[in-house]
This record gives sequence, structure tokens and C-alpha cells, in this order.
Amino acid sequence: MTEEETHTGANAISTEAMLQRFLLISRAVAGQLDFQSLIQKVSEEVGYFLPHDHIDVCILTGEGDMHVAYEARLHTGWGDAPEPVPISVSPIRSMLRGEEDFILTADAQLDERFHFDGAFSDPIFDARLRSRLHVPLQVEGKVIGALSYSCHARDIYEDSHVTIAQYVADLLSSYIHALNQGERARKAAIRQAEIHAHAEGLRAGALRLTEALELERQRIGMDLHDQTLADLTRLSHELRRLRQAPKIPGETLTTLTDRLEGCLQELRSIIEDARPSVLKLFGFEQGIEALLERAVASQARPISVEFSDETDGAGNVLQETHQIALFRIAQEAVNNAIKHADASRIRVVLSQSDRLLSLAISDDGSGLTGGDGDHFGGIENMRTRATLISAQFEIEPCADLSGTRVCVSLPLGDPSTFPTSERTQNNAYIDS
Ligand SMILES: Nc1ncnc2c1ncn2[C@@H]1O[C@H](COP(=O)(O)OP(=O)(O)O)[C@@H](O)[C@H]1O
Ligand SMILES: [Mg+2]
Repeated sequence: MTEEETHTGANAISTEAMLQRFLLISRAVAGQLDFQSLIQKVSEEVGYFLPHDHIDVCILTGEGDMHVAYEARLHTGWGDAPEPVPISVSPIRSMLRGEEDFILTADAQLDERFHFDGAFSDPIFDARLRSRLHVPLQVEGKVIGALSYSCHARDIYEDSHVTIAQYVADLLSSYIHALNQGERARKAAIRQAEIHAHAEGLRAGALRLTEALELERQRIGMDLHDQTLADLTRLSHELRRLRQAPKIPGETLTTLTDRLEGCLQELRSIIEDARPSVLKLFGFEQGIEALLERAVASQARPISVEFSDETDGAGNVLQETHQIALFRIAQEAVNNAIKHADASRIRVVLSQSDRLLSLAISDDGSGLTGGDGDHFGGIENMRTRATLISAQFEIEPCADLSGTRVCVSLPLGDPSTFPTSERTQNNAYIDS
């Protein structure tokens, strides 16, 4: 507090001087577009007739049961709170709820109104605040917040200060209300833009996956055409020719049988590439094990793989679409570890915690190097696959194997993760 402030009795100010001061406050705050600069300006202008070491403006948010505070002069825990705080913990909750017209205290540290169970009143002690004066900000008879003045010294404020504080609050409240509405509209617009961006990202991802599926279909068509159909056509010609032969030698039949089996083998692997039949035949856990074995079998260098299931077989009871998505993500992550990272060790862990099922694929390879952000490859496909089943997706440096870790976490308890048979047993989850 300055000398001038301490000795300026509120009663001693002339009406003319008061009016001039109010005009100054009004002008000073008019250009402020955020609460922090606004309270700063208010502090500079009101010191003349409302002495203070700390000032804050508190604004009700949401449905009116939360509030945020902006402060000037001293920094306290009230101004530090990153998120809105329930008004039920505010030392001035009674005034914010409209139960009191103002709160005036000679010593806030001793005043029991501020110190109830759970009260957010530590800043009173931390900032050594004693005299306090609180007045509500009101618009159309409704409390929208409060202005609070505090001093280190005891017993500073009198009734005349209450009157002036209320004039200042009335002068500012419509401006603060407009600022608050603007802020809410801005936040709502940001939220809307985020939702839109998310939906747009999902749509683009799904489109890419559809395109990838289309390419896959074309590949299957080409494989069938170039390889299997050609083989089968040759076989069919040969069989037609043999129909005319009086006698078919045994070795010719053996060769034909071998070639037919070759075709069947070829067909099997084309189908296997398109749809992981291991999942259907053996379930999720063994499917992952088979995937790991297959991925490293054809490599020239030895790669050690391990799979541990820390759940009670939770993967096996997942709905098929979720199993396939997790399987495909694991497949891409394992292929990346082999192809890009030169890994010699790959570990896959299925774990469960707090209604989340997580599948983590870690490698000890060279690690991520950043690279081309515009490139839509396997990583983006993994992300999209995860989003389509409402799972979280992360790719990050791996702490314990010092390579890369891909982790996908699926919320459990959502009926859509249950297998169809289980859903239909429970009436509540029957698909409509
Ligand atoms: N496990 C990994 N270790 C190191 N780098 C990786 C790993 N996975 C992916 N990358 C890097 O990310 C890039 C993009 O991967 P991805 O989207 O799967 O593309 P691609 O389709 O080429 O496999 C790779 O070119 C590589 O540089
Ligand atoms: Mg890849």
C-alpha cells in the first residue's frame, strides 16, 4: 500500500473526484480483452479509494457452480488454479450463492466464515491477508462473480469502502459479463473445431483404409489371376488331354496331384494374407504368437520374439472386429520393427488395468527418427484402426528395450467390445 492509499479515507473524497475516478476506471478497462489485464487495470485505478495489497476478480463458470479467479499485485493459490474450482470450497461461497450482499472482515485469518472444512483458504495465510472486502458482481439480479480486496494490515475497511466497492463492481459487471460470454463463445468455437477436426481425421483415415482394402482386393485378384488361375488352367488342359489317353502313367498322376496341392497351398496363403485365419482357428493369443513366429521365420538374422499375456485370456473374448484391429496393429508394428529398426528383439505384452486392455509391441531397434510427417503409411493406418475401435494409440521411444514402443489401449466394459454371442445372451446388449 502507498502512503496516499493508507491515508485516503473513503469519506473524505468529494463527489466530483469520485466521478472522475469512475470515469478513469471505465476508460482503463474498456480496451482490455482478457480478465488478467482487466484486473490489473482495476487494481491500478481503484487504489485511490480502495487500498489493497491483493485484489482478485472471481468469475462463475459452467452452470454457475464453478469459478475461476484472476488476481493482481500478490500471486496466490487462487490465481494459480489451472482449472475452474467448485464454489463450494470458496471462502466467500455464501456471497457467490447470493446469500450475503457483501463480506467485510477486519481479520480474515481469524474470521471463521472463511475456514470451514475443505475451504480453499490457504492463500489467506500464505499471502498474510487480514483485512478483506468482498462485493458481488451482478447482472440482472444474478451473481456472476465477485471482486475482492485484501490488505496485510488488520481493520482497514469501513462501511464507506463497501459502498464504493459496490459502485465499482456495478460499473464493471456488465463489461465483465460481456467478456465472459465472449470467452465462452470462443471456447465453444474451439471445442467445435476440435470435434470437427477429429471427425474429419477419422473420415480421412477410414477413406485411406478403404483405399488400402481396395488395393488389397486388387492384389488378391492379381495373385489369383497370375498365379493360381494360370496354374489351374494349365492343370485343366492337361487333364482334358489325358482324358483321351488310353492309359495314364502313375508318375503323371503324382505330378498332377503335387501341382494341385501347390495350387491349394498358394490359395491358402492368399486367403491368409487377406484375413487372419489364425484368429479364427486358435484365438487371439495364439494368433499373435503365430504372427510373431511367421514374421521372423523368413529373416536372415536371428530375432528373438516373446509374447506375454498378463490377462486372463482377455484377448480371446473380444469381439472379432476388435481382435482383427489389434492383430493388424501388432502385425504392422512387428513388421516395422523388422523392416525399419533392424531389431533383434521384439516383445508383445497384453495387459489389463482399470478397464483398459492394452497391447504393447516393443523393440530394441534403432528407434524413431522423426521423418516425413505427410507420409501416410502403416503408422497412420495403425492410428486409424485404433480410433475406429475407440482405442488410444501411442508410438514412442521404448524405455526398457531402448527402441520403439507401440501401444494400443482399448476401453473394456463397453458392450461393443463383447463378442456377439455374449451380447445376445444379455438382453441389454442385443444389437438392434
Ligand atoms: N519400430 C520402428 N523403429 C524405428 N523406426 C520406425 C519404426 N516404425 C516406424 N518407423 C519409422 O517410421 C516411418 C513410417 O513408418 P510406416 O508409417 O509404417 O511406413 P511404412 O509404410 O514405410 O512402413 C518409417 O519409415 C520409419 O522411419
Ligand atoms: Mg510400416
